[in-house]
Amino acid sequence: MNFKQKILLFLCKTFYRPYSYKVISNAEKYNIDQDNFELIKKTTFNLYRIKINKKTYYFREARKHTIFKDYLLSILEDYFEFANINSNFKNCKKMIIDKLSEKKVMKALYNIGIVNDKKSKIYRFFNTNDYSIFFIDELKKIDIKDIKDLFQYLWGEIYQYRLNNGVKKDYYQTFNISKTIGTYTLACMLDLNQLIPKTFFAEIVINGKIKYGSLMEEAPGISPCELMPVTQDMISVNFYNQCCSLYFLDTLIYEKDHRPGNYNVICHNNIISSLKVFDNDSPLAFFITPSIKFSSYMKSSPIVDKNNILILNHMSYSPVNKVLDLKSNDIKKKLKNVLSPIQIFFLNIRIKKIQRVIIKTIKTKKDFLLKNNQWSCEDIKNDVNSNYNTYLNILLSNNYVENNYE
Ligand SMILES: Nc1ncnc2c1ncn2[C@@H]1O[C@H](COP(=O)(O)OP(=O)(O)O)[C@@H](O)[C@H]1O
Ligand SMILES: [Mg+2]
Repeated sequence: MNFKQKILLFLCKTFYRPYSYKVISNAEKYNIDQDNFELIKKTTFNLYRIKINKKTYYFREARKHTIFKDYLLSILEDYFEFANINSNFKNCKKMIIDKLSEKKVMKALYNIGIVNDKKSKIYRFFNTNDYSIFFIDELKKIDIKDIKDLFQYLWGEIYQYRLNNGVKKDYYQTFNISKTIGTYTLACMLDLNQLIPKTFFAEIVINGKIKYGSLMEEAPGISPCELMPVTQDMISVNFYNQCCSLYFLDTLIYEKDHRPGNYNVICHNNIISSLKVFDNDSPLAFFITPSIKFSSYMKSSPIVDKNNILILNHMSYSPVNKVLDLKSNDIKKKLKNVLSPIQIFFLNIRIKKIQRVIIKTIKTKKDFLLKNNQWSCEDIKNDVNSNYNTYLNILLSNNYVENNYE
């Protein structure tokens, strides 16, 4: 584990622990058939794709924070119940659970690490197939592909557990869902909810098991990665306007992971008309920092320059006016059951800073504010020709590999 991750995990136990619930009473309730419930595990944090009345949603679970052994048993139970696994593997359930819950193995699993870290146990295991890393040589009889699938699921759930180490025993782990719901709530307050699929607390019942979490509507369209190479003549003014708004919103949230691939785009006749962003639970979202000058994982330029002016040439009136009107108490009222008091405190500091930056920007760039119908292709050209790595330029670079992972 590198130094930054150690600091993050320490903060998660202390100052940066999430607001957490003993009971989640404000959740919308749904009964789901197993046929309409699919575990997606090729991700950082596992999630479920769910169909409700033929509509698709994505569910992020807030599990109960129990002692690690019980947590491990419960995620393993879920895997055997909900993952799409073959019968041979299912028949080995007892052997696997017995092995993984041995003390030595469990300790190694607790320190499994994250896939993006080359020094982690999980990275080494995936690259060397060395079972001794986890002391599980007895499981060699089982197909390695099935074991790797299980471990792909496990590392995300265990990382989730560790990020939630500040949550009291038997409370719900809200580290991720608080970020997703907080992001949508703030977007609504700034009239920017068209950028994000609707997201809300949900209680789902499946096979008699109750699960709490956040439910997000499906983002329509396709990943821009499928359009590669994306060229300037494919960019519409509406999409460009949305890129600026998202860049701005992310600065308030301290969201670093809204790269192409974490949003979908709607594209007709090779013109991208709009976007919707879904991966809103980056571990640093709503971080306890006053900073509004930061770079995303894709090395975007900080949105504020050294003169404390926005690097964007334009913004639409509506989100800017909404931010200028925001009062600390509005934020507190809307987010007090989602974010922790210290997260709200720092969000309010970032809002105050951006308010000052906006006022200075409006004074300096006379045509900074535009109505939605005033955006032009000329504005797109100016953005592309600027020296800044804006969200638009990241998309047009057609190189969507992250440079950094924190
Ligand atoms: N609301 C959504 N709409 C459409 N696709 C989604 C949505 N949420 C998740 N997905 C799909 O699930 C994948 C993983 O979700 P994501 O939140 O990006 O997780 P990760 O942290 O692993 O990148 C995405 O790449 C996307 O294909
Ligand atoms: Mg993603």
